[in-house]
Amino acid sequence: MRKNPIFESSSGPCMFEQVNLLRKFRTYSDLQSIQIQMFETLGLNYAVAVQECDRVFAEHSLLRRDPSQHYELFASLKKTLTVRRILEIGTFEGHFTRFLSYLYPDADILTMDLPQRVASTGEKSHDVLRHYNPDFENERTERRSQLRNCSNVTQIEADSALLCRRNDSFDLIWIDGDHKFPVLAWDFINSLRLLAPAGVIAVDDILQVPAPGRSMGGDEGYQCIQRAVEAGIVSSGLIEKRIDNSSQFTTPEKRKRVAVVKSTENKLW
Ligand SMILES: C[S@@+](CC[C@H](N)C(=O)[O-])C[C@H]1O[C@@H](n2cnc3c(N)ncnc32)[C@H](O)[C@@H]1O
Repeated sequence: MRKNPIFESSSGPCMFEQVNLLRKFRTYSDLQSIQIQMFETLGLNYAVAVQECDRVFAEHSLLRRDPSQHYELFASLKKTLTVRRILEIGTFEGHFTRFLSYLYPDADILTMDLPQRVASTGEKSHDVLRHYNPDFENERTERRSQLRNCSNVTQIEADSALLCRRNDSFDLIWIDGDHKFPVLAWDFINSLRLLAPAGVIAVDDILQVPAPGRSMGGDEGYQCIQRAVEAGIVSSGLIEKRIDNSSQFTTPEKRKRVAVVKSTENKLW
């Protein structure tokens, strides 16, 4: 007799797994409502952000390659923040940098990425980003081409660790380089120091639970932020990283988020 594919698999009945999967399911509109609420909690307007993103993509005939909601986040911050200087840690191929350049045409944008293939550790994959990167030349060529007409963008090829030697300040900082300890903690502390008093730091790929071995890091970013919250240095909130169908079966605790961090400006002593 044929097995019912909904309730049984070749390895035996899996009704509970199926029911569990269905219980996790969120439609696009469920996730969108959650996102609207998360933006509202941060004093940001999601609908305006979507409109602003669409405008930038249409006006500049840009193809959106990444559904990540950090595009909407940066578009919504435009309405609440005076942005003169932006720092991006992790340029990659420069698509988001180019979007930022069009979104904030009057701001100076500094973006940095590693200068070369970092000496191989024997782990020839791009999953631990600070290690050997076999695609380095292609990425560098792509980002030079993406950014060649963005006159408000300055590209630096340097390890973000060197930010500890800078003394200037930024209204908006996007932390999206190495996603693991210890580099992420360095990036976070350097960013706190370089943040203008009313500025905002956004941190990509935040998980609130550990995810050992995961290529894009686990809860390292969340831990850094929580430590700063406990110390009274910052306040923070979260938005969903993705609301497209890639997130529809993911439980809230396993969904990636983007963190939004502000300095509390408390006098500490
Ligand atoms: C996820 S990608 C950045 C994506 C881009 N910011 C965006 O919004 O689409 C991460 C980038 O960070 C770079 N990176 C990793 N470690 C770094 C470090 N220590 N300093 C500077 N860049 C680093 C990697 O080479 C990679 O290109």
